[in-house]
Amino acid sequence: MAASSEKLIIFDTTLRDGEQSPGASMTKDEKVRIARQLERLKVDVIEAGFAASSQGDFEAIRAIASLIKDSTVCSLSRANDRDISRAAEALAGAQRKRIHTFIATSALHMEKKLRMSPEQVLEQAKLAVRFARQFTDDVEFSPEDGSRSDMDFLCRVLEAVIAEGATTINFADTVGYGVPELYGNMLKTLRERIPNSDKAVWSVHCHNDLGMAVANSLAGVMIGGARQVECTINGLGERAGNTALEEIVMAVKTRRDYFGLDVGIDTAQIVPTSKLVSQITGFAVQPNKSVVGANAFAHASGIHQDGILKARDTYEIMRAEDVGWTANKIVLGKLSGRNAFKQRLEELGVELESEAEVNAAFARFKELADRKSEIFDEDIMALVGDEQQAH
Ligand code: KIV
Ligand code: ZN
Repeated sequence: MAASSEKLIIFDTTLRDGEQSPGASMTKDEKVRIARQLERLKVDVIEAGFAASSQGDFEAIRAIASLIKDSTVCSLSRANDRDISRAAEALAGAQRKRIHTFIATSALHMEKKLRMSPEQVLEQAKLAVRFARQFTDDVEFSPEDGSRSDMDFLCRVLEAVIAEGATTINFADTVGYGVPELYGNMLKTLRERIPNSDKAVWSVHCHNDLGMAVANSLAGVMIGGARQVECTINGLGERAGNTALEEIVMAVKTRRDYFGLDVGIDTAQIVPTSKLVSQITGFAVQPNKSVVGANAFAHASGIHQDGILKARDTYEIMRAEDVGWTANKIVLGKLSGRNAFKQRLEELGVELESEAEVNAAFARFKELADRKSEIFDEDIMALVGDEQQAH
């Protein structure tokens, strides 16, 4: 059990890694709208894009940097002077800015992709961080494919970049290869073995290829001591996506007894942000998605509906309204019980004179529910109208 009450930094990369999802590219105006909403959500860092990747992304980062006041605005850059200069230029107007530079450290990536020796990668990482520090004192370094990298080499690189002034070290599970306990322990080992590790904030960045991005991120926090989580709205991201912001935030808040960490997020903005991102990207949210799925707070079984009506805690560990849903949603159907039906009548302002009338209406409702999978308020009004006419 965690005893501390430190802050967990929420770094949102919907506009950068999220946008790397095939088909999710956004215009400058769309990015600005999402950035404003992320500020309302009170994320600590907004990774607004990758300035050197295109003129459009450069312009979007510049616009976001000039508008956003409460969150740090960040741009990604490869570990070279040109990328870093573009990032610095795009971020020039920001109230608080961060340059995030990265280079791959796994043997596979260095040899096959970069065609560089480990010593060259080490040197380039140091030079990149040193150069980035000329523009801001908030510099993040990511060893790309970190979770598949050799630990001795990682220790050398990360110690060196911290010595050059990197203030955040982001342990990237680029291809979603991590397993919670192993990933968390790798981070722990790095922090223990690197002599200057306490000079940086440690961060997790996980992909969801094996469906473990959230679990890996939380293991990185609890086992590895990370105090920043990189995530996206709705888990949007390359391939199977990134760690979902809404799941991290609600896990840490709902199980504060275990995590012992605070997040600065305004949770009532979670659903509006999810809807905005879904609407802009055209990526629908699956109904059973945690926290933001349409069914996340819906109760269809009679037993559950009855429990919820008696005490919400029976089947709800979070409040729908706390994450921005307007109300919890009892879906009336053939499994619904009399109590749920009666409660809906009251909500609709229908007053039946006697329990016998309620029973009769409930019987008609059950008949209808056998023929129709979901009963809407209009159906109930019609049904009660019939019932009243029968008198
Ligand atoms: O997945 C990854 O490795 C990245 C880095 C650029 C941090 O997105
Ligand atoms: Zn990524």
